[in-house]
Amino acid sequence: MIYLIANWKAQQTLSQMQEWVDTFSTLLEADEEVSNAIASNKLQIIVCPEYPFILAAKEMLTHSGLHIGAQNVSSKEMGKYTGEVPAEILTDIVDYAIVGHSERRSHFHETDEEIAQKIIQCKQHSLNPVLCIRGESDNIPDGVKIIAYEPVGAIGSGQNEDANLVLEMKDKLKLSEDTIFLYGGSVSKDNIMSYANSGKIDGYLVGTASLDASHFFALAKLLS
Ligand code: PGA
Repeated sequence: MIYLIANWKAQQTLSQMQEWVDTFSTLLEADEEVSNAIASNKLQIIVCPEYPFILAAKEMLTHSGLHIGAQNVSSKEMGKYTGEVPAEILTDIVDYAIVGHSERRSHFHETDEEIAQKIIQCKQHSLNPVLCIRGESDNIPDGVKIIAYEPVGAIGSGQNEDANLVLEMKDKLKLSEDTIFLYGGSVSKDNIMSYANSGKIDGYLVGTASLDASHFFALAKLLS
């Protein structure tokens, strides 16, 4: 199974999101190859909307086999934490949660300890955490099944990391056999096959190219 995750970040209004879903759904309905890849679990598409749009996106993305994820999750249990979104509240709404994205580590000073708490919360409440790491120095808590390697310089820069360097990092991380290893950082339709052709990368976390529904669909098509 190959994972393709759309991380929209904080970049769309409600109407832009609705337009995205309309375009993507139309492309998907018309394409048997991509529909079959999703139906047969060859391709796992996970869309991570802006928080306020999660439910609307979920209701609009009616094509079976599409998954919704959260871009972040609280390290706290449900309780008196104004503005937080704990894992328990996300249960039954999303299947996945991105944890430890480098933008959260740098702009919101998330620490490895806080990230480890978020992973615990996800597990307690049946969410699959997608742990983002920037390199070897970031802690990988025990039992994390999905890792997204996202070198900081490659994120949003148009300078995707060379596939060989990504594979070198994968080796250095000494992950267990069953860990799902994703790459993220300026993935586009022009470079995704350089990773896919290696057969050693289990999927992609896509920011910029995921904001354009046609571009994101083109990625799905290439992976189908
Ligand atoms: P990018 O973002 O595709 O724009 O580099 C990836 C990410 O931040 O997850």
